[in-house]
Amino acid sequence: MQYSEKVMDHFMNPRNVGEIEDASGVGTVGNAKCGDIMKVYLKIEDGVVLDAKFKTFGCGAAVATSSMATEMIKGKTIQEAMEITNKAVMEALDGLPPIKVHCSCLAEEALHAALWDYAEKNGIVIEGLKKPVNDISEHEEVPEEDY
Ligand code: FES
Repeated sequence: MQYSEKVMDHFMNPRNVGEIEDASGVGTVGNAKCGDIMKVYLKIEDGVVLDAKFKTFGCGAAVATSSMATEMIKGKTIQEAMEITNKAVMEALDGLPPIKVHCSCLAEEALHAALWDYAEKNGIVIEGLKKPVNDISEHEEVPEEDY
């Protein structure tokens, strides 16, 4: 399977690369199996995500999904941001090859980790948000042979 045009576009011209100095929440998640790491910065004010940036040390699909995920989360309320699943990001990218699905999980988890950090710093509870893991490979349902 080939990568979609959207995946290629977000890989070649990733949006929102960088960091936010006074970020409201920062999340770092890795996958020990492939060695990829993603860091997401969110700027949140009055319950709305005003800005999102990322740094990804990872494969093309990880870069493309972080780019799309940070685009999707901007302007969203925290509850809306919770609905940005890896599936939603993949759909927005017109799909990923099955072997690359786990890369999109990294993006979802990194967003959640940044939201968790924000919640902790502000002493709030975000409904439906689970404590993030540092290494998603330990919790993945993706079978080993898919790597
Ligand atoms: Fe690790 Fe894609 S191969 S995130």
